[in-house]
Amino acid sequence: MDLAVVRARYLELRIALPEARVFYAVKANPEPDVLRTLAEAGSGFDVASIGEITLVLELGADPGSLCHANPVRTPEETASAFAAGVHLFVTDSAEDLDVLALHAPGASVLVRLAVDDSGSATPFGGKFGCSEDEAAVLLPRAAALGLDVAGLSFHVGSQQSDPKAWSGAIAACARVASSSGVELRLLDLGGGFPVRYREPVASLSECASAISDALALAFPARRPELAVEPGRVLVAEAGVLHARVVRVSRRHDGRRWVYLDVGRYGGLAETEGEAIRYRLRTPHDDGPLEPSVLAGPTCDGDDVLYREVPLPTALRAGDPVRLLAAGAYTASYASIAFNGLPPLPVHCTDSAHPVPTPRT
Ligand SMILES: Cc1ncc(COP(=O)(O)O)c(C=O)c1O
Repeated sequence: MDLAVVRARYLELRIALPEARVFYAVKANPEPDVLRTLAEAGSGFDVASIGEITLVLELGADPGSLCHANPVRTPEETASAFAAGVHLFVTDSAEDLDVLALHAPGASVLVRLAVDDSGSATPFGGKFGCSEDEAAVLLPRAAALGLDVAGLSFHVGSQQSDPKAWSGAIAACARVASSSGVELRLLDLGGGFPVRYREPVASLSECASAISDALALAFPARRPELAVEPGRVLVAEAGVLHARVVRVSRRHDGRRWVYLDVGRYGGLAETEGEAIRYRLRTPHDDGPLEPSVLAGPTCDGDDVLYREVPLPTALRAGDPVRLLAAGAYTASYASIAFNGLPPLPVHCTDSAHPVPTPRT
């Protein structure tokens, strides 16, 4: 992980959306040096569990800079988060509101709307968020339970390809505000900002301009304060995953299989369904390519990354393979010991402050 790239991406986000409070989604890459870099740059944190809360508080983060954005919480989890000083929670159900009222009395809440995430590489499949009608009921209910109604949040799905996804979601929030009669103090635009893997994607400034146009239309009189919960966009490009070829075999199906020492369970979970297609670099990229199956090292039949990817004919066991833009949702997804293989180790460098080479 190159911390200078994390810093640069954070700055780019601040320039694109200067009014928005930033809660970095810790799940994307919880490496302490990454968290420290972002905290020093001014970021807050989107946390999903007491483990993540403890991690960022131990690094010196202010509990007031945290947002608990995982609405699937046990009562114990809610109480521990509140006791640790977290006072902003995302919620999406009447059941969770009851838990919050009991275990985090007076906390601030953002009601999460389910929005169109069809342009996302990893859509949520309906797991989170409520409908506009439900939100219009939950907002006054939260107030009646003594909670502080901060506003609404949404997430357009990670690696969202269409900047207009934010426009539709912002319009939906404005409709809820008007139907419920609740004035939104804070609007959390979630994460989802895309990163260039194999295909080009919309830039942060293109997403920001779609957001800005939608806000002007939806809230012509008075805009709510803004927040974002970016994960991938801040850390993916900072990371290179250094793998090695374990074996190259032509198998009975006639296809050439290339096995790496890192696979689905060692950090490349987002290759499931080929949702994320990493750019690959080998020492033979100038030579001829041939279609190959790229697989991981474990005994699991699902541990296949790509069913057909062009790879150099000259690729041999022992060759290094670099996966670019692999700093998000990799190490944090790696199994701790499946097949006895160790989790993905993370090394941080800082190209803006290189370690001086000792004089000889
Ligand atoms: C609630 C929540 N916030 C933020 C994020 C970060 O999203 P992304 O990495 O797409 O920016 C996620 C990721 O799934 C999420 O579930």
